Formats: sequence, C-alpha cells, structure tokens
Amino acid sequence: MTVTDQQTYVGRRFDRVDGPAKVRGEATFAAEHAIENLAHAVLISATVPHGTITTIRTAAAKDVPGVLDVYSCRTPGWTLKDVKGYPKGPAGTGILPFQSPEISYRGEPVALVVADTLEAAKHAALLVEIEYEERVHRATLDEALESGPASDRKTPKALQHSRGDAAKVLKTADVIERAYATPTHHHNPMEMHAVIAAWDGDERVTIYEPTQWMQSAQGTLAATLGLEPDNVHVISPYVGGGFGNKATTWPHLLVTVLAARTLKRPVKLVLTRAQMFAAVGYRAATRSAYRVALKGGRVAAMDLHAHTQTGPVDLFPEQVGTVPKMLYANGNMDFTQTLVRTNAGPNIMMRAPGEASGSFGLEVLMDELAEAAGTDPVEFRRQHHADTDPESGLPYSSKHLLECYDRAADAFGWSRRTPQPGSMRDGDTLIGWGMATAVYPVYSSAATARARLCADGRVEIEAGSHDIGTGTYTILAGIAADALGVGVGQVSVKLGDSRLPKNGYSGGSRTAGSVGSAVLAAAQGLRAELTERAVNDSDSPLHGVSPSEIRAADGRLYAGRASDTLTDILRRSGKDQHETYREIVPSGGGQKELDALKKGEDGSVEAVTDTHARYSFGAVFVEVRVDPDFMTPRVSRIVGAFDIGQVLNAKTAESQLTGGLIWGVSAALHEHGETDPATGLLLNSNLAEYHIPVNADIGEVTAIALEGHPDYHTSALGARGAGELGIVGTPAAIANAIYHATGKRIRSTPITVDKLL
Ligand code: MOS
Repeated sequence: MTVTDQQTYVGRRFDRVDGPAKVRGEATFAAEHAIENLAHAVLISATVPHGTITTIRTAAAKDVPGVLDVYSCRTPGWTLKDVKGYPKGPAGTGILPFQSPEISYRGEPVALVVADTLEAAKHAALLVEIEYEERVHRATLDEALESGPASDRKTPKALQHSRGDAAKVLKTADVIERAYATPTHHHNPMEMHAVIAAWDGDERVTIYEPTQWMQSAQGTLAATLGLEPDNVHVISPYVGGGFGNKATTWPHLLVTVLAARTLKRPVKLVLTRAQMFAAVGYRAATRSAYRVALKGGRVAAMDLHAHTQTGPVDLFPEQVGTVPKMLYANGNMDFTQTLVRTNAGPNIMMRAPGEASGSFGLEVLMDELAEAAGTDPVEFRRQHHADTDPESGLPYSSKHLLECYDRAADAFGWSRRTPQPGSMRDGDTLIGWGMATAVYPVYSSAATARARLCADGRVEIEAGSHDIGTGTYTILAGIAADALGVGVGQVSVKLGDSRLPKNGYSGGSRTAGSVGSAVLAAAQGLRAELTERAVNDSDSPLHGVSPSEIRAADGRLYAGRASDTLTDILRRSGKDQHETYREIVPSGGGQKELDALKKGEDGSVEAVTDTHARYSFGAVFVEVRVDPDFMTPRVSRIVGAFDIGQVLNAKTAESQLTGGLIWGVSAALHEHGETDPATGLLLNSNLAEYHIPVNADIGEVTAIALEGHPDYHTSALGARGAGELGIVGTPAAIANAIYHATGKRIRSTPITVDKLL
C-alpha cells in the first residue's frame, strides 16, 4: 500500500511546517500564553532528601507587597484524593504534594508562593523558612545497595526472563564475568516544565502546559480533584522538548491548579532549571552483572542480573533487560532485574529508557567477547544475528539489521580498521574505531483524526496529539497532502488541544506511525467521499467515472484528461466545508485498545504481539581521537544506518536520528548526575556543571535511514519511530572505540579523563 498515487512528500525531504513560526517567535509555548489577571507562582523545593517538616515560617514572605499567599502541607482544604494509578502516566510519582509533612525525596515540592508579579513571588520565596527533622537518606543506587534495607529491593516477576538452561551451560564452561554501570541522567529539554491554570467556576479548568500526554492532566485532575475529565481542557500546541519527563503529571501542576482555585485567579508557574533536576524525574542509575559462556567462539549461555534505581515509593523500571533479552541468537538466557528504592525521587523514562542504558553493557560485552573469540566485532554480531526473536520465538515484523551493518560499515570505511588496540594513529593522536548495534521496540497505538476541506481549498487536519519537537506537524501535513493531492502549504495541522480527536501519549516513538496512520485514514476517507460526490454529480466532469479510476493531484481529482477541483466539488454540494473523522485500531491490536483510548487511557500494543516481534534496528560506527598525553577522548566521526520502516520525511527523520546519536555522545562522555553523599542533594543541577556536548564536541555525524522497507505489521503507513533508536548503542560504540584507541576498557559511563589516565 502506498499513501497515494504519487508520493510528493512522504519519504521525501521537506521543511518543517512549524519552522517559520518557531523562528519568528510566533509559536506560543505554554508559559507564553497571554492570560488576563495572571498571578505568578514560585515553587519551593525540599532541601533534605528524607525527613519531616517541623517548621514553616511564612509571615515575612506574606508581608512582601503583592504576595497573595503561601501554600504548603499546612494549607487547609488542599486535600487531594489519593487514587491508585494516579497521577496518570507511564511513570511518575504517586506521592501527592502538600498532603503531609513527610519528605521522601530531594527536591520534593514543599511550598508555593503566589504573588501579583514574578519578582514579588521570587523575593518572598527567599523569605520562607522551612525546618526539617532529617532522617537517614539513601540518595543513590550505590548508597542504597550498600546500606539500604532488603525491603527496599524488589525483583518483579515481569522483569524476569529465562530460556533454555543457562545455569547448566555456565557450569560446564569457562565463564566470562563482567559488570557495567550507567549513572543517573537528567532530562533537560530547552523548555522548562510550566503550567498556567485558569478556572471557570469550580468545576472547569483550562491547563496550559507542555506535555507529551494531554490525557494525563485530564485523568489526574479528574481523579484527585473529583472533576469530569471533559471539564479539564488541556492546551499544549508547542512543546520545547520532552524526552519522557513530560509524559505524566507532576506535583507542581497539582499545586498550581489548587492555588488558582483558591485565589479564583489564573496562576502561572515555571520551574527553574535546578527544579528540572529534581521533581520531574530522571533516568535511573543501573548496574548490570553478566556471566557468559563462550564455546567455539560463540555465546552458548548468558546470565544477566541487573540492579536499577527507582523512587521512594514508585517502582518504575529502567528496563535494562529489553535489549539483552532479545538482540542476539542465544538459546540459553537468564535475566533478572532488582529495583532499588532511593530518596533521589521518582524516576521516569528518558529517551530510550532501558534500551539506552541496558545496551551499554551488552554492546561493550559483545566487543569484549568478540576480542576473546578473535573475531571482528561486526562479524561477531553477524554470527549472532537472530533470524527470529529469541525472546518470544516469533518472526520479526521486518528486520534489515544486516543491511544496516553493511551500509554503515561501508560509509564509515570499517574495512580499513586494524584490530590491535593503539594501532591506528594520526600523528601522535590515537585513533579508535568502534561499533555497536542499535534496537528499539515498536509500540503502536489506537489513534483518531479528522480531515476537513474548506471552501478556499485549505485542508485542516485535527488530532489531539503532540509535537514535542520531533516534527509531528510536518509529517502529518505531508501525509494529508499526498493523500489528497494538494500542496503541503495548503494543509494546516492542529495538535495539542484535548478537545481535538483523542490520541495516546507521545512517547516510546509511537506517534509517527500511529497518529500518522489515523491522519492517513481520515484524509483518504475525505478524498473517497469527495470522489463519491463528483462521480454522482451530473455537473461534474467526472460524472459516471468509476471511483477506482480517479487520481488526486494539484488540488484536483483526475480521470484521464477529465478533472474536477476539490473546491468545485465542495461548492456544488452547497456546503462550505466537508469533514471526515476516522479512528483506527492499532496494528497488532483491536477494538480493546481503541475503547481504552476513548476512555482516556493509552490504547497501545506492546512491541511483541501474538504474531510478530516488532523492533527498529540500526548499526552505529564511531571514530574517536584521543590525545596520548592528556587522554581526552573526542568523537570525530559517527555513522549510523537505521531500519525504521517507511521514512515519512527524510529531513525530520535524519534530525531525530542525528539527535539520538549526539545524545549518545553525551551519555558516553558527559552526562552524570553527581550526588553529595553528605546531604544527599544533587551537586550539579545546572547546565554549567551537568555537562552536555556543545557544537565543538561533535564532529561529523551521518545518519542513514534505509529505504524500501515499509513495515505494515506496525502501522498502515509502514512507518516505525525514529526518535529513540539513535541513542541506543552509541555510548557503547564510543566506549569500544576508546578501547580500540587506548587499550583501556571502561565499563561505566561517563568515560571521563580520570578513568583513562
Ligand atoms: Mo520517550 S523516553 O518515550 O519520551
């Protein structure tokens, strides 16, 4: 199936339709909405990671001119219903704000100052005095593993996997044991979390917030405040990056909503950059311990036990096992994962949660095993290529990993590599070449959309989904333009309003395939209905033509040389617009998921269905240059080739993949949340000390998206997500390149100079 007779946009390279508005500052982000009579809030965060509030002094703050009030757990009437499953989201914290004086994580919101001006609120916040009785904290995974009670560790059944008899094989072979570690990472989208809450009476509220899931705020406010979900109107047209932590409702939203209700006045809160490191999630630290039996140069059995950090009450798993369980052919596998509670706060998914962190260990291990077997690392991976999914035994929906290895290796020049560590140099500079495999699951969602033809020939597309910076507006415009045979400039796409047709959350790289397929269905439906009108209209040049002979292009329907314009067809029908609504069940799922979606749930199908294992694949090759005196590693070149099914827009897909690869550099060399063991607080909650790469850190980056492999088991478009795949494998490819350059095998990230000296 193709999108239309001629694909002018889908699969091609075209500019972002929202680009001009963003560049001109005409795209309105959450905190920028001009609301009358707005009051300004400042959030105060706990300065201990574990304890009890003993004193809150607010008199001086309340004396500041313009201050309206100061709220905290002492505020009467601020009761939130503690409903299981809420706050709603794929993760997030179940600890509702301001309900008790107990503090269980660092940065937990403890007070909210609201004033007529932001300046007054900021000043007053400095005058609020809060005292705590501190309790023993375990703010990091290491601390919790060393001294935490056994009750703080859980090994959920759902995180265990066993096939074959790994224990037996491991007893009869020389066993290679290795341990790998990744630290906490913090989401830092350019746009901070923000909310404006505006009530209309006591039953209806409008929320402006940057979100990956509008239904999270709807469901959470309905549950905790007893509102009708439809009375919570969420507006989120532009989101300045999400990366996972905007997919749920955090405490700051709830207290802002309560303040606005109490004051009977709209209230705005924007978190500070430091608060972005605290109460809105992070990527959990991980430890992976492997035992591998190598027989005849092949993996005969593998055992992985992982420990990962989680929040004080929540158990969101950083799913480090996802990749090791399924990536390579191996009949004997044992996997268990233990979640360890910490006072670092609730963790949440962060771009390729589990896949990025879990594949670091696996892909460095594969490099070590290849060396032990005396085999080239690419060849070693080819030898372990899985033709069917080792975890489920099912066929893949579509897999072109071998082509990814070929394309990336060729483009990189891998055949010129000499295997000996330290054997490649440019002058004095050590050169290292390393590689890794990338993989990311494909989730599909039920989705809904509306397509409308207007009298002036414009096409409007409506979907209650999100563009978190990934290019959703652009790909949806291209899909509709192709389906209707119009120019992309004639299509306007509306997203980010909870009153638009319902869709699930924009996470797990599922929006392009799922919402894109609903837009395809709506646009094709609109075209079919207009075709129907034309062929039945005796005034149309297409009267009596069989609909199957009709093609769409240039704003017209054609049959041979006869044609009719879309606008003429509409005009003759006597209406000034024609609209078509369509809902789709997810590929691999059915009515159940669609029903769930309509109730405000996510309505998604997991990567492994009853019939297929659905994954995107890739291969990442990296060149590092290391100064032999200072041992500073620099990534000079990255080439990645990716199998993402049908490419929807080559430009935005490459941007997504490139962003993922660059984030891989960040994870490999820079990012690390640094905790002060004495206070349990984060030492680097700012972008000066929490390092991410700048342009000077990034060399040449090439992202190749394979063409010609649409995957119709994942979506009607054949498209799979590209957002998260690029970061998976990249940190390991860099670690492997550093080993090749220096002979130093570093098994934890970030790979900083101190580890290389
Ligand atoms: Mo992504 S971590 O599913 O926003």
